[in-house]
Amino acid sequence: MFFERAKAVFPGGVNSPARALKHLPAPLVAKSASGPYLHTDRGRLVDYCLAFGAVILGHNHPAVREAVARQLERGWIYALLTEEELEFGEGIKRHTSIDKLRIVNSGTEATMNAVRLARGYTKRDVIIKFDGNFHGSHDYVLIKAGSGAATWGIPTSAGIPQEVAKLTAVAPYNDTNAFLKVARDLGERLAAVILEPIAANFGLIPPDVEFLKAVREETSRLGALLIFDEVVTGFRVGLGGAQSLYGIKPDLITFGKVIGGGFPIGIFGGRGEIMDMVAPSGPVYNAGTYNAHPVSIAAGLAVLRELEKGYVYTSADQAARKLAEGIGDIAERAGFDVVVKQISSMFQIYFKRGDVKTPQDVRESDEKLYLKLHEKLLKYGVYLAPSQYETNFTSASHPEVVEETLAAFEKAFREL
Ligand SMILES: Cc1ncc(COP(=O)(O)O)c(C=O)c1O
Repeated sequence: MFFERAKAVFPGGVNSPARALKHLPAPLVAKSASGPYLHTDRGRLVDYCLAFGAVILGHNHPAVREAVARQLERGWIYALLTEEELEFGEGIKRHTSIDKLRIVNSGTEATMNAVRLARGYTKRDVIIKFDGNFHGSHDYVLIKAGSGAATWGIPTSAGIPQEVAKLTAVAPYNDTNAFLKVARDLGERLAAVILEPIAANFGLIPPDVEFLKAVREETSRLGALLIFDEVVTGFRVGLGGAQSLYGIKPDLITFGKVIGGGFPIGIFGGRGEIMDMVAPSGPVYNAGTYNAHPVSIAAGLAVLRELEKGYVYTSADQAARKLAEGIGDIAERAGFDVVVKQISSMFQIYFKRGDVKTPQDVRESDEKLYLKLHEKLLKYGVYLAPSQYETNFTSASHPEVVEETLAAFEKAFREL
């Protein structure tokens, strides 16, 4: 069987853990993708995972495909400066508060370099991250909170040295007082605070804007840097990302996913004087054979041009809004307590009473019911994000499948 073969080659049979879909007998196997659909060994599925948020135009969009094909005609790697990467960089600057940026290959690389840069710039070592925020899979940030308000780095992964983990403090998300306590205890040891301005890796948790403002003020007061990790929200909640949605200017920002058009990309950037610390103009090292890869740049520029037309956000956001409302109604009629959170083209469903404001609220939701819903929906042709701890996404091609999706939800809820 295919999965047995895969397990003999890849740990757990997959190349990234979230693809394992452990609540199913075997992971899904993809064949192709177009518009809102994934074509898999389980048939055609409306895709709400969208490569964990990397796709916003819809799969296999002609603008991206043609841009990539044109690049391939001219060769695909030079390891030299190109006109296209400059145009791309200028585009990023136009829409964000970034003065200068460096283009790398993944969100993980982007946050790793942003943290290193913050430490190099401030000449301090300790950072704060928040419980339930995910910043990729490197040692600085693969740290979670245990019980209690603030925890000193308990690694989420084996293999992270205690010496490294203890340089990352963890504070509770959306809890201003708890954050202020952790930050003030650290005082002038604090190099940076890194956070997702909208938490999208522990389900979808809208930020308390007063909390974001307090983090901005306190980091400035302590002479520490504020890093917004917009790998998910950048270019998804609008061209200016969450920073412009909430009117807060961080010192450094990281991007990825959407702005690579489905090809590998990561970006870190920010205030000019900080970015000038990056090699070769400064002492903080970053380098990469594939940095600003021409294929990713071609795809990214194509996405940026589509996003600048405006229709993408109108369509994708409207689809998510209709789905969030429709799913809430269906769940209520079926007699389930459900909370649906939606921001722009992102939404998530929680089986719980009350509200979802913190990671703890997500933990208290009924995960088993979510997974059951996920499995039932597959039967009716819908691929929901495979965990309540992930976020669902829509693309510009989703308005056409809203009705079909809600019909699938009707059937699935009836069988829960
Ligand atoms: C907020 C955030 N930061 C960083 C990352 C890491 O990005 P990548 O998977 O491209 O390494 C992710 C990935 O899910 C993310 O959601």
